[in-house]
Amino acid sequence: MRHPPFFVRAGNVNGVSMLPVPNTAIIVVAAGSGTRLDAGAPKAFVGIDTHSILRHALDGVFAAAPAQVVVVAPEGFEGDAEAELRAAAGERAELGRVVTGGDTRQKSVAAGLDALWGDVRTVLVHDAARALTTPAAIDAVAAAVDDVTGVIPTLPVIDTLKKVDGDDIVGPVDRSELAAAMTPQGFPRDLLEEAYAAALASGVEYTDDAALFAAAGHPVRRIDGSPRGFKITTPADLERARHLLNTDSGASARSAHTGSGPTAPIRPAPLLSVSMPRVGLGTDVHAFGGEGTLWLAGLEWPGEQPLSGHSDGDAVAHAIVDALLGAAGLGDIGEHFGTAHPEYSGAHAEVFLDRTREILAEAGFAIGNVSVQFQGNRPRFSPRRAEAQQALSAALGGAPVSVTATTTDGLGFAGRGKGIAVTAVALVVPSSVEESS
Ligand code: CTP
Ligand code: MG
Repeated sequence: MRHPPFFVRAGNVNGVSMLPVPNTAIIVVAAGSGTRLDAGAPKAFVGIDTHSILRHALDGVFAAAPAQVVVVAPEGFEGDAEAELRAAAGERAELGRVVTGGDTRQKSVAAGLDALWGDVRTVLVHDAARALTTPAAIDAVAAAVDDVTGVIPTLPVIDTLKKVDGDDIVGPVDRSELAAAMTPQGFPRDLLEEAYAAALASGVEYTDDAALFAAAGHPVRRIDGSPRGFKITTPADLERARHLLNTDSGASARSAHTGSGPTAPIRPAPLLSVSMPRVGLGTDVHAFGGEGTLWLAGLEWPGEQPLSGHSDGDAVAHAIVDALLGAAGLGDIGEHFGTAHPEYSGAHAEVFLDRTREILAEAGFAIGNVSVQFQGNRPRFSPRRAEAQQALSAALGGAPVSVTATTTDGLGFAGRGKGIAVTAVALVVPSSVEESS
């Protein structure tokens, strides 16, 4: 018998209105460290664009039919996961909770199972790393689960496969007999819990939930997966996700995908984009004014009139930040450091630049170089050029920074000595591409 899709209880009990209680739960495992992505943070918290892998995954989950959502977070990152959950859940926040994961995926799923509500009958287990999985793909799995059968989405295997023994090819493999497994994987809750208890008792680690479920003697069926549900494992995968979000204009295209078949309109990222460097442009203008001394290009300039601004007014540093963020497609200075972030009020260049380098690193980008020019009558720059370049470069983890200065023949606000205008160009490089395994 198939259960009605989602609600088992709703309406009015003893005069108190009850929220509908979903009988489906989605466990989103996000407790891995992301060794192969190697982005300096647990994989789920690495940015694809201005949103993390986990946030994208949860956007898909909360756009699917209502379900209890259990996010399994790495130890120490429960608060960050909670923030992502709330941001994605909107009005469904009370359907979500965060639990702490274990040191294997299987233990993380087990921690998620422990947090299920009593009403839940169907459980989907989903990798946060499959961040662009569509709501339709999630719903299709949930709809296909029945009282005894597990359901997984799969993709056809495209490569020609060989059996090997060391360097010897020892035989062919008929790829029509094979399929690549994806998530979410859906199961009847009671049988999955029993299968997990049996796996725990046997001490065997399974590669996915379907294998664990099948080992307990239960049938598993497949439905067509969507290539959009690919797993982000390496920096190349992250770049593919970025490319997809860029080229299909994000959320609107996402909801248009049916996700239920290999014919979904997916345009795989051209391989070239994987390792292509990217350029970015930043400009900034500040007027002279206010108290204190001038800060420009990472240096203090005693005796020079200061520039006004939310921070120290260092227009050179600010233009560099915009160029770097722009190159990586990670928003702009206002988003990361604006007045909504009072902690940066009065901050100097090294704080902005160091944090920007970190934001880029978390998103999988290294800084190639930065070239910046300011227009202004003062200060006289060339005597301190080397010092400024060194300070800026040090704040960017050693990436070369060159700074040039020019006057404007008395023209414009810079020429009249009213302020300074800066233009910066930056080159960033996606982190090295590794083989997926
Ligand atoms: N996962 C988990 N707990 C673990 C290991 C993995 O919750 N102890 C989750 C990951 O967060 C991910 C999913 O399981 O969403 C699939 O794992 P994988 O892609 O291998 O992620 P990581 O283990 O983080 O990556 P790596 O193997 O490169 O370290
Ligand atoms: Mg792993």
